[in-house]
Amino acid sequence: MSVHKEVKKVTTHVLQEMKRKGEKIAMLTAYDYTMAKIIDHSGIDVILVGDSASNVMAGHETTLPITLDQMIYHASSVIRAIDRALVVVDLPFGSYQGNSKEALNTAIKIMKESGAHAVKLEGGREIKDSIERILTAGIPVMGHLGLTPQSIYKFGTYTVRAKEEEEAQRLIEDAKLLQDYGCFAIVLEKIPAALAEKVSKELSIPVIGIGAGGGCDGQVLVTHDMLGMTKEFSPRFLRRYLNLYDSMTNAFTQYIKDVKSRDFPNKEEQY
Ligand code: KIV
Repeated sequence: MSVHKEVKKVTTHVLQEMKRKGEKIAMLTAYDYTMAKIIDHSGIDVILVGDSASNVMAGHETTLPITLDQMIYHASSVIRAIDRALVVVDLPFGSYQGNSKEALNTAIKIMKESGAHAVKLEGGREIKDSIERILTAGIPVMGHLGLTPQSIYKFGTYTVRAKEEEEAQRLIEDAKLLQDYGCFAIVLEKIPAALAEKVSKELSIPVIGIGAGGGCDGQVLVTHDMLGMTKEFSPRFLRRYLNLYDSMTNAFTQYIKDVKSRDFPNKEEQY
């Protein structure tokens, strides 16, 4: 039987066992109770309370504005819905870079106040001290390399990262460092598929890709994007499993029509 089917609760060790056995890991984002409940009951392995909440829930252009308290609000809503999945929460921009003590305090606050199982940080060698300090408190850390949206003003665009040899080499080194520091898994975002496959093969910890090809140990997508709730965001790597934007628009316009025409509520729909 597969590890995925056997386990009642997904832990960081379960993910590592899945990698060892060559079983792909499925991860999606969630930011609220209702969505998290459906995703968890569908059998997902990992739920990421991503700082993409800043975009899809709050309407900001970047992930930078979301605050620690807002991340905790989203994470605790998700945690209340979960029976099985491992829940990983993004440390928000400005809460861990350059100050490992603050990083530790942020991670502890997230774990204590939301009940999450692990945290995710963006970056490589430059955040070594923060990762190591968080790990000393027994908090599992997921890394994130490649396109790291919290550094958007450094990159200038959301285009594919590490296409040039020098950046690719640095990414490989950083991935190995994250493993050596003690991260239980890493996310690779929007990098060439061949590079992501090489990293996945060279690392013993799971590598979860987004826009990084099929050679990774698992995949992650932003739920609102894969459900087709967002129309304007349409990168090549995104597979839409539904067109909820149009389905919801149809439902809302029908409801408006029914209210205005007095069709809703009918006799059976009242007391
Ligand atoms: O915030 C997020 O949703 C993420 C994923 C894109 C990996 O970091």
